[in-house]
Amino acid sequence: MRGVSAAPEIAWAQLRALAVEAATRSYAPYSHVSVGAGALCSSGQLVSGSNIENASYGLTLCAECSLVSDLVRCDGGRLVAVSIVAGDGLPIAPCGRCRQLLFEHGGNDLLLDAGDNDPPRRLGELLPDAFGSNDLGTRRNR
Ligand code: THU
Repeated sequence: MRGVSAAPEIAWAQLRALAVEAATRSYAPYSHVSVGAGALCSSGQLVSGSNIENASYGLTLCAECSLVSDLVRCDGGRLVAVSIVAGDGLPIAPCGRCRQLLFEHGGNDLLLDAGDNDPPRRLGELLPDAFGSNDLGTRRNR
């Protein structure tokens, strides 16, 4: 019997290939670290993004930023599974800010590519007890 979990079948190789391709379109003249991200959306669409650096350094857009921009622009719904790679084609850990960005659009159940030797990881593992939109409504000043 193949797999008893209700987890969706994810075409990880396809997502990784999308991320690798996106990394080739990165703009990283300062760090020389190209990053690409590819994701499956709840709509079934695939979206991608690359890091775009800036001479001011601090204004750099991570690959996940452009991925989320692509997601919203395409009306893709929620992020289901994502692969994020550096220019060497291997998965790279998302930075703290991007974990928060991914959480907004994928929640705890978003799956992240962890490479060929490890099972995908849930975002909830990488960003436990995340702050999200549910924390806003009831906490407003009276
Ligand atoms: N970078 C990303 O694109 N995503 C991350 O999650 C980590 C860092 C980029 C930003 C910068 O252009 C380069 O990697 C080096 O930090």
